[in-house]
Amino acid sequence: MKLLYVGSGFVGACSAAVMADSGHDVLLYDIDQEKIKKLSSNNLETIESCLFEDGLGDMLIKNKDQISFTTDYGKVTNYLDDVDAVFMCLPTPEKSGAEGESDLTYYYLAAEKLADSMAKRNNSTQNKYVVLINKSTVPVNMIDETSRVMIEHGVKNFGVVSNPEFLVEGKAIEGSVHPDRVVVGAEKEEDFKVLRQVYARFLNSPSIKYIETNPQEAAAGKLLANYLLFNRVTTTFDVVGRVCESFPKINFENLRKVLISDDRIGSWGFYDSVYCGGSCFIKDAASLAHQLEEVGVSASYVRQTLMSNNFQRDNFLSRSKKEANFDWSKKKVAVLGVAFKQETNDIRNSGAIDIVRHLVGEGAEKIKIYDPAAMPMFMSLFDPAKDSRYSVISYYNSEKEVLENTDACLILTDWPKFRAVGEVIKTVCPSPYLIMDGRRMLANQFDELQNLGYDIIAVGSPFLKGK
Ligand SMILES: NC(=O)c1ccc[n+]([C@@H]2O[C@H](COP(=O)([O-])OP(=O)(O)OC[C@H]3O[C@@H](n4cnc5c(N)ncnc54)[C@H](O)[C@@H]3O)[C@@H](O)[C@H]2O)c1
Repeated sequence: MKLLYVGSGFVGACSAAVMADSGHDVLLYDIDQEKIKKLSSNNLETIESCLFEDGLGDMLIKNKDQISFTTDYGKVTNYLDDVDAVFMCLPTPEKSGAEGESDLTYYYLAAEKLADSMAKRNNSTQNKYVVLINKSTVPVNMIDETSRVMIEHGVKNFGVVSNPEFLVEGKAIEGSVHPDRVVVGAEKEEDFKVLRQVYARFLNSPSIKYIETNPQEAAAGKLLANYLLFNRVTTTFDVVGRVCESFPKINFENLRKVLISDDRIGSWGFYDSVYCGGSCFIKDAASLAHQLEEVGVSASYVRQTLMSNNFQRDNFLSRSKKEANFDWSKKKVAVLGVAFKQETNDIRNSGAIDIVRHLVGEGAEKIKIYDPAAMPMFMSLFDPAKDSRYSVISYYNSEKEVLENTDACLILTDWPKFRAVGEVIKTVCPSPYLIMDGRRMLANQFDELQNLGYDIIAVGSPFLKGK
């Protein structure tokens, strides 16, 4: 089939790569010239400098004959003449200052431009049927909006489908090749048929659930899935973690073993963390709350989940003063990890953003930062060369360099290699020294480090005063 992708971010690029690998012809369009240049470079390192996703670069390079990239809308217009389906993969962030309402500006801009060209396809006869696929996470009734935009621009012979993306960043390619489910929400059999062809690769797989619903169920399914996962993570740190912080003889890892051995509780998301970030959970929960409130229903439980997440980060930071009597002012601080989680360079809604702002605001003398993948992204927000407010920030290339000559460190991302940071601390950070472990990466060494005189504040543990 001939597929067009509008938006080549995490979702667009990963989905398009898998579709090309499934034998379809794919054109990816994006307004970001730099991104298109890098993604089409056929060079693994260059692709990963733009989108760091395991397997993405290899898959794009392997399928280069079936996938092309452009920022030129003329090419899109020509391609539309015989395209079978168009995937809308635009950002749908939270509107700033609003109580969770989705900012659909990117979506509408792209949809209106697309509608103009769609109406002109096949010399304006529009005889080729096209399905528009909402892959972006959108409000429940968005399908009506998409149809309205098309009709207002004179588009005919089209269908609109809701086909939410369930990929997990860091495992997006693996997850797109072996998804647990494919959800297609459509109103017409004609549209289901097109999507069955698009997803022929998954249709008869014994391990993949291919689920057909109406468009509203598909869109709501995505929002609710993200909410339930988000709630699971925040419940773990706001209830289970808090119990462990409050009762000195309860160890988080032991309690975790007790609880997850019950299959009904399960292990997913059962870890303690300083914050639950990323591009989706927070904004999708906020959007869900907003949509419920718009129809006159209380969304207090959803709102509480959002508040618990913020409380966790703020509470963690406040413990340094309250428990260790440690003031950030004039201190040299090492930050280990700025990606919102391991195996990605994505910093959207990373807890590190507000934490670094807090350190700057508190007058830290030096903020040293190291992340194995996300430093270029973080530097685009906190660039000491461009913004004098961030002159105290500097970037380093290893755990050792970032930890040297500091008074305290904060571990904020669960990069597996940070589990070995305790040994580096022992070598280059003489006690007294404050370790703030926002991911329990050093849990196995807490006793040893405490005995060596290090003060430790960790999520899921009471204050451990150095001996
Ligand atoms: N990232 C995830 O893990 C994930 C998972 C599931 C669903 N989603 C949803 O998928 C959607 C896209 O997310 P993403 O992470 O890929 O976002 P992204 O920001 O990584 O990518 C979006 C892309 O759209 C491009 N774009 C913006 N305006 C455009 C326009 N007018 N025309 C063409 N391209 C345009 C941007 O340049 C960008 O490259 C969002 O709704 C998100 O909620 C994301």
